[in-house]
Amino acid sequence: MQEKLREIQKNAKKQLENVKNQEELEKLRIELFSKKGALTAIMREMGAVAPEDRPKMGALANTVREELEGEFAQIKQKLNATAQEAKIIAEKIDVTMPGARRPLGKIHPLKQVERELCDIFLAMGFTVVSGPEVERDYYNFTALNIPENHPARDDHDTFYITDEILLRTQTSPVQIRVMEQKKLPIRIIAPGRVYRSDAVDATHSPIFHQIEGLVVDRGITMGNLKGCLEEFIRQLYGEDVKTRFRPHHFQFTEPSAEMDIACPKCEGKGCSVCKGEGWIEILGAGMVHRDVLLRCDINPDEYSGFAFGLGLERIAMRRFRINDLRLFHENDVRFLHQF
Ligand code: PHE
Repeated sequence: MQEKLREIQKNAKKQLENVKNQEELEKLRIELFSKKGALTAIMREMGAVAPEDRPKMGALANTVREELEGEFAQIKQKLNATAQEAKIIAEKIDVTMPGARRPLGKIHPLKQVERELCDIFLAMGFTVVSGPEVERDYYNFTALNIPENHPARDDHDTFYITDEILLRTQTSPVQIRVMEQKKLPIRIIAPGRVYRSDAVDATHSPIFHQIEGLVVDRGITMGNLKGCLEEFIRQLYGEDVKTRFRPHHFQFTEPSAEMDIACPKCEGKGCSVCKGEGWIEILGAGMVHRDVLLRCDINPDEYSGFAFGLGLERIAMRRFRINDLRLFHENDVRFLHQF
């Protein structure tokens, strides 16, 4: 029996040395210590041992069992540590690897320019307001001194929802809506989309953008108009750019003017950029017509004002050297990501 015990111990030690993982260790543990295990089996043979030898055998069996248990515990710990280490290595993260980048969107070039222009006016004390794109004929035309059948409507052919409701052809109807509220003085700009039924080509689109401006207060003069718009141009194009005002006609301003900047390429001589003109038209403007003030219930003998309107697309096209208006609306991200 003693030999058998030693044999079991020797075998077990040998097998323990070769155990590679927890599963093998567990298998070996069952083979030795479980109810059907080798050590349990040999204890059953204790009955066959002579009574005087039993205490000695019992003690030996216990020692063998304890020794083996100790070794099992040790190996188990070692295996645990190795497994932990392997896990750490397997799960290691290289924090210097580039991450998965999400594609970032960009502000549309037209919106960029709109914001830039609005910022200039905001710094001058203007407030940004907006009006409806689906507008009443009255606000888009009649209230702006363009009655039904007036030839000025020919330039503003647009899309009608009903006889009375249309897509606005200009941001000027916002002037009327603001003045009707009569919170004087007024100093607003109104950026937004406008519509005209033009055929699409490199310089025309049925949808385009304007920024409207309106100032109404006591004692506003043409001098204020010029000062404000010249300052705006300086902020936009720099101190040195030359400007001029040309007499013009709008139904809802009197007097009216268009403002040009000297062509940045030829400085007034005429070239391909300005199509031989030497000047580039930037905006339309004028003193708010008496009749328009009256229609909004503002006393023209007490109050006066100036208004202006500019097109965003042409400014943006020059800014970004874009030569085809259609690109703005095609939503090609390869194009849009360049700005
Ligand atoms: N609304 C005019 C246009 O579209 C521009 C304008 C605005 C002119 C304000 C004078 C005053 O042509």
